[in-house]
Amino acid sequence: MSYHFDTLIIGSGIAGLNLARKLAQAGQSVFICSKEAVTEGSSKYAQGGVAVVSPWNPEDKLESHIQDTIRAGKGLANSEVVEKVLSSSWKRVEEFIGLGVDFDKDFNLEGSHSFKRVLHVADATGRALMKPLLDNVSCNFNVSISQGTEALSLIKSEDKVVGADLRTVSGENIRIIANNTVLASGGFASLYNNHTTPNILTGDGHMLAYDAGAELENLEFVQFHPTVFFTDDKCFLISEVVRGAGATLKNINGEAFMQNYDKRAELATRDVVSRSIEAEMKRTNSDFVYLDMTCWSSEEIEAKFPNINHFCNLRGFDLSKEMLPVKPAAHYSVGGVKTDIHGKTSVEGLYALGEVASTGLHGANRLASNSLLECIVMPEFIANDILNSPNVNEKLEDIASNVSLDICSSYIEQYSYESENIKQENLEKVRNILSKAMGLVRSEDQLKEALISLENLKDFKATRLARLIISSALNRKESRGCHFREDFPEMNEVASSISSKQASQIV
Ligand code: FAD
Ligand code: SIN
Repeated sequence: MSYHFDTLIIGSGIAGLNLARKLAQAGQSVFICSKEAVTEGSSKYAQGGVAVVSPWNPEDKLESHIQDTIRAGKGLANSEVVEKVLSSSWKRVEEFIGLGVDFDKDFNLEGSHSFKRVLHVADATGRALMKPLLDNVSCNFNVSISQGTEALSLIKSEDKVVGADLRTVSGENIRIIANNTVLASGGFASLYNNHTTPNILTGDGHMLAYDAGAELENLEFVQFHPTVFFTDDKCFLISEVVRGAGATLKNINGEAFMQNYDKRAELATRDVVSRSIEAEMKRTNSDFVYLDMTCWSSEEIEAKFPNINHFCNLRGFDLSKEMLPVKPAAHYSVGGVKTDIHGKTSVEGLYALGEVASTGLHGANRLASNSLLECIVMPEFIANDILNSPNVNEKLEDIASNVSLDICSSYIEQYSYESENIKQENLEKVRNILSKAMGLVRSEDQLKEALISLENLKDFKATRLARLIISSALNRKESRGCHFREDFPEMNEVASSISSKQASQIV
């Protein structure tokens, strides 16, 4: 079956829903698909909040947020993009206040921010932002949402992306023809064994874009979150705002150690804290460190971090009395599908938004809580671009029957029970390979070995994306932001410019 919409959005996180809301309000017909339940994605789990300079916080200044973001990006953030995104951030937050989000009036502190500027709703900010967006789009007749519907490949007519082929959970294939196609499909941290993100986030959107000829960049910059509590069934993130409020990291002997690694201690950038934890675990021959919150009473912990407290209580931890074992896990894909400030990729008709995109805001490392910010700001720029485009009212009906449509996939995944099992087994192998070679510390030997191992795997999207990520890490013969090479431990401008040109090729 084939259907027509003005805009197809692949992904129903905060980025995708927020764009759908804006386009539908302007009268556009929008089709949203999400791989699983409409609420499942990183957005729902976001804890710390949205980094924003606000009139509620007069001592903070926009210029300071800009500088902090650029500093974290280690020379690769695009200052024009940083300025544009950050300077419209409060306006976009006000929209959410208008939608009924009741932000707390105090601000959290996270690593490498010069001020307390993380606006939040307790420690469950993502959920609080998702709810009004979902309410809004599900009541709008211009929006159709299809849950449990996976985008398999983009389709092109001549050089323009004109929609996608999707498969529903019941195995039905559908084709959406659209004037604009937007990838809002999240990151790829779930290509690692240990990750903070929902299992489904394996970078499908990155490969959809790549197969359609769009440029990807900076895939080697995978951000690890330093403090993740590992339970039998889940990696549960313990927000950085906990450290921002005063919790300390201790080794298995109960000694604070971060000062030994960086003078900013617990509030150094995430790459530094994560690598320090890994080094301390190695030094003390342990596979975890502790996060110590015993400086607070249980009432204080409940008041500050109810969501975290609840999760840990259910697993038998009284955080006011005992320290919590934590270690780093893959968390955020800093690079992605290259876009301009309007979210446009290098292929006509295709936009990318949210974590899948590489807008230039983050450079080589994302400043904490700048991601939700990007998800609430960028939809405005994309919506304006779409609505002001000269062909906004063009209809693509005739394209549906056009025999010259290209399906952008070098590997068409046939659906069957067996093939799903094979795909899952393959994914587990990819996870093992990537986790070993693309951890916090990388080296040429390990990266090359990983590429060879991947050659023996089936040619699924995950395998191919892993090859791209590893190739990018291999090409960047320097250490910068969250990419650390033990064989090239310093930043190197010449190496950086060479690798930026090579990054997105499968080798
Ligand atoms: P997501 O919310 O991840 O949504 C991706 C969507 O794409 C999903 O709907 C999924 O089903 C869909 N999808 C994927 N592939 C396909 C496919 N093939 N076909 C159809 N649909 C597909 N950032 C902050 O700024 N502040 C925080 O406090 C914060 N806390 C975080 C805490 C946790 C535990 C995690 C995991 C992340 C956190 N982040 C935080 C990061 C932030 O939440 C994410 O970067 C952001 O929510 C990404 O939103 P998104 O809309 O781009 O993607
Ligand atoms: C956190 O709350 O620590 C996550 C924040 C982020 O990833 O930006």
